[in-house]
Amino acid sequence: MSEHGGNTVEVAQKMGISADSLIDFSANINPLGAPERVKAVIKNNLSRIEKYPDVEYRHLHQVLANAHQCESASVMAGNGATELIYAVVRYLKPKRALLLTPGFAEYRRALQAFSNGQVEIVDYPLREEQGFQPDMHLLETLAEVQPDCLFIATPNNPTGLMPDQLFLQALVDYCEQQAIALIVDEAFIDFLPQSESLIARINTTRHLYILRSLTKFFAIPGLRLGYMVSGDSHGIARMKSQQEPWSINAFAALAGEVLLDDHQYIADTHRWLKQQQQYLWTQLSAFDALTVWPPTVNYLFFRCNRQGFNLQQALLEHRILIRHCKNYPGLNENYYRVAVRSNAENQTLINALHKVFSHG
Ligand SMILES: Cc1ncc(COP(=O)(O)O)c(C=O)c1O
Repeated sequence: MSEHGGNTVEVAQKMGISADSLIDFSANINPLGAPERVKAVIKNNLSRIEKYPDVEYRHLHQVLANAHQCESASVMAGNGATELIYAVVRYLKPKRALLLTPGFAEYRRALQAFSNGQVEIVDYPLREEQGFQPDMHLLETLAEVQPDCLFIATPNNPTGLMPDQLFLQALVDYCEQQAIALIVDEAFIDFLPQSESLIARINTTRHLYILRSLTKFFAIPGLRLGYMVSGDSHGIARMKSQQEPWSINAFAALAGEVLLDDHQYIADTHRWLKQQQQYLWTQLSAFDALTVWPPTVNYLFFRCNRQGFNLQQALLEHRILIRHCKNYPGLNENYYRVAVRSNAENQTLINALHKVFSHG
């Protein structure tokens, strides 16, 4: 099965059912759907398919830079944050990298893809006893291991936990002093009601690369758009020159130009999330069979305490797909992640869990 959530097609095929009949709690996509203004801008500009997009995406870069009050030379757009994970690794060519586990799988894949087996990947396990959170001990490990780069996701996937702000600031300072490339993945940060982004720090360091995704918050995973912000403008220029031309399609570029100031959609999303995150957290925490970590964004991470019980399989019988986390280094088959969805869908999940556990 795929390393990622959202693979309803594969699961449905195995079950001999249609993918549409599954409720997908395995991919963390905003259930409000793509903003109307994105759909409108695409419909009104269909003729753009007949032309190449600007190979330098000048307008898009300028809009993204304005949104973060930085120079467009500090911004690079990509075909989802995923393309930029690969771009930054290709540019940095690290010999030794530190990865926090559990974490998003593409950091490791990108490191392996560009290194011809030459990169040494050192895992830094986030332990359940420490609440799966990194702390100042990470700085000691950096001093020992002396990696060229470190990936950290804020909030982390799959745990949904946001590292402490003071710790993150100290990490930026340390990586700047030691010239360690710090790649901070903020793919889900827009879901936090108050911005805790490290983009404000790009003027203070050349070793910080911040990744952003528009696919989750604005529900456009099929359109694909992400960007990177960094004070290393030389590096950004180099990565742009190494990027394959036209990797962002004309509609994705247009979407990026109109999305970030869709304040109504942003407010609607935060309103939905506040209610439904609280609902799912309360309901899931009430099951004795589950240990749930407090959510910060649009997904929840939990452990099923019934040893050997395959909760993903049990819920598939109710046409619900959740993300098992057994393929994350550092986790096993007892850990799962669910997205926060609409009120009706969240209720369906909770009802199904009541049935599953009452028959256990
Ligand atoms: C932590 C994290 N970073 C980046 C990505 C990639 O996002 P995109 O769709 O923008 O490529 C994902 C997708 O699941 C993710 O979970």
